[in-house]
Parts: sequence; structure tokens; C-alpha cells
Amino acid sequence: MPFFGRVSPLVGTILSVLPLALAGFDPSSTSNIAVYWGQNSFGQGSGSLAQQRLAYYCANTDVDIIPLAFMNGITPPITNFANAGDNCTAFPSDRNVLNCPQIAEDIRVCQSLGKTIILSLAGATYTQGGWSSADAARSAADLVWNMFGPVNPSSSALRPFGTAVVDGIDFDFEAFTSNIVAFGQRLRQLMDNAMASGSKRFWLAAAPQCFWPDAANGPALDGAVFFDFIMIQFYNNWCGVNNFVEGSQSQNAFNFDVWANWARTRSLNPDVKLLLGIPANAGAGGGYTSGSKLAAAIRWSMAFESFGGVMMWDMSQMYANSGFLAQVVTALGQTPGNPPSDPGTPPPSGPLVPHWGQCGGEGYTGPTQCEPPYTCQGTQWWKSCV
Ligand SMILES: *[C@@H]1O[C@H](CO)[C@@H](O)[C@H](O)[C@H]1NC(C)=O
Repeated sequence: MPFFGRVSPLVGTILSVLPLALAGFDPSSTSNIAVYWGQNSFGQGSGSLAQQRLAYYCANTDVDIIPLAFMNGITPPITNFANAGDNCTAFPSDRNVLNCPQIAEDIRVCQSLGKTIILSLAGATYTQGGWSSADAARSAADLVWNMFGPVNPSSSALRPFGTAVVDGIDFDFEAFTSNIVAFGQRLRQLMDNAMASGSKRFWLAAAPQCFWPDAANGPALDGAVFFDFIMIQFYNNWCGVNNFVEGSQSQNAFNFDVWANWARTRSLNPDVKLLLGIPANAGAGGGYTSGSKLAAAIRWSMAFESFGGVMMWDMSQMYANSGFLAQVVTALGQTPGNPPSDPGTPPPSGPLVPHWGQCGGEGYTGPTQCEPPYTCQGTQWWKSCV
């Protein structure tokens, strides 16, 4: 809910003792960085380049969002976290579902560092094809939410991450999925209901292939389901980042512009954010691109209002590709290794906000520069001059 005008000194005092803005998905930022974790795509079984536990990567101040890959079966449920699954045990009542106390512990660590941890559904190995009816799809959404969302004492669903609660759900359907719209609408409704009754913020994301329409997630994206952000896979396809033509304003293959047009005209959420999805290493996906071409593709995409940052597949590949994350961060106009500043804030102009006054936050459109000596601080939802 947006707030306007000045806050009382008392509220300001309380807000000023809350932690300062942390990393995490920020809808007002153009430099969100999402990196998938869970599939150990670099493929090392041991050693420093094998996928490490989740919390190891949450120490990285450049990474904001970590989708956990994957819940690769939904009806019936199946979880798979590659070598991180070795630290889980199968639930005796359903051996396709892993009980992962270490990941649960790490989700809490990551969330305390401000990271947005979302559960990614499906992936390339999902073969269930969706649901035979809208009702079945809605029941599946209820199940996913009872497994990974807020603890529901009246549900007997198995909880792979115990009482840890993810910050949202990511649709990574890569093959046709019947009744995906009913499934997505129900999940959105569950998130909205939880938020309306005072829970933390939940996010719904999707990771379509770059061609439009995306065969799997397309029906949900086409004006049907409210997504907060999408992480488009600009790889493995002709529309990928490798086909960006440097020095040309018009692009015939690389199609971020098509998605920006989708965001403006067909997305149910008119403020949806688009993350440019790229392979994080030569073996991570078809069309690995780095250096000046990657930087140019990022800058070209940044010109679109809906641009929200970069997604990479995946964490193990990125850590095996020294310097790649820094390239991405630099191309986004940020300084690697530092918590990103707030690039969504326009340069100072107009009136100054007095002490304790609101200077930023979700939905806020007023002045953002504080009267000296105060600085604008707070969370993505509320910032005030302190
Ligand atoms: C598995 O657990 C061990 C022992 O705590 C830890 O060192 C290792 O990083 C974990 N591996 C993964 C992939 O989570």
C-alpha cells in the first residue's frame, strides 16, 4: 500500500532502527541479479567447483535472488537438488520427496541477509504435462503452497524445508503444461491471501524461453496470471544473447524488445520486471556470451522501462567462471562486490524531503532527495530521511 506525505516522528524513529535496505528482489531496481542454485550444472562431484551448500553463495553481496532448482514433479511431487540432495533424506512416506534440514537452515541464513529465495517448479526434466482439469491444477497449487509456503497446521503435506518459508515460486515449465493458467492463478491467489493477512511479501516469477509465445508458460503469461518478474532464457534459442548484433540499434534475432512489448501490452502486471537470462559459463547453455557483446546486449536491454536485471544459469557454472559475475555487475552500472545501490532512484531534482519524511519505497512517486544532513534510508517498501 503506498503512503503519501510525511510520517510522524514516532514512526520515523521506529523505522530508523529497522535494518537498512538489503539485497533481494527490488521492483524499482534495474540491477537485480538472480542465479539458479540446486542443479550443480558445472557437474563436479567434489572439490571447490562442485555445487556448495546454499548459504555459501548467500555471502555474495552481488546476488539478490536465488531460485531453488527444482521441484521437478508436482503431481505427484518430486524434488531434486543434485549433490545438495545428498545432504537430504527421502521422506519415508514418499521417497520422491526430500527432507532437507540443511537447505532449510540455509534459507533462513540467506533470508536474514536479505536474499529472495524462491522455489523453481518443473525445469527441463518435468514430464507430467500439467493437469487434466482446472480443479486438479488448483489442488496441485494448494499442495505446492502447503509444502513450501507458510506453515499450514491443517495440512499434512510433506515440507522439504521444514518450517522455512520460501519467498515465492518460479515457473520454469519447458514443455506444454495443461491447465497452467488455473494452476498459476490459484498460486497467485494463495500468495495474495497470505499477504492480505499480514504475511511477508511473496513473489511469483517465470522463466520462459526467449521466443514468443513461449510454448509452456505462454498461456499463463498472456494476460492470465499476475507475475512480479520474469527471467527470460536468452539462450538455447535463436533469439538468444549470442545473436545480439553489436553496434546496431535494431535487432533481428535477439528479442528483448518483444518481451518489453509484452510487458507493456499483454502482461497482467503492467509493472512486471524483465530479467535478461544468460548462461553463466560456456557449458551452461547454448549461446554463452561474454565481454563487450554481453555488455552491449545488457545496455541495449536496459533502455526498456521494464528491464529489471540479469538472471544466470547456474550458480556452479558462475563460480567456475571467474570474473563473469563482475562483468555482469559492471555492465549493469554497479560496482562488483558491493551491495548494489538503488539505481531506481532518479537523480536529485525538485523539492527536498524534511527529516522523517518519506523519500522512497514501493509506489512512492514524490521527492526523493533529503534535506541535508539527512539521508534516504529504509527498505524497498518504505524509505525516509534519517
Ligand atoms: C553437504 O553437507 C556438508 C556438511 O555439512 C557440507 O560441507 C556441504 O557443503 C554440503 N553440500 C551441499 C552441496 O550442500
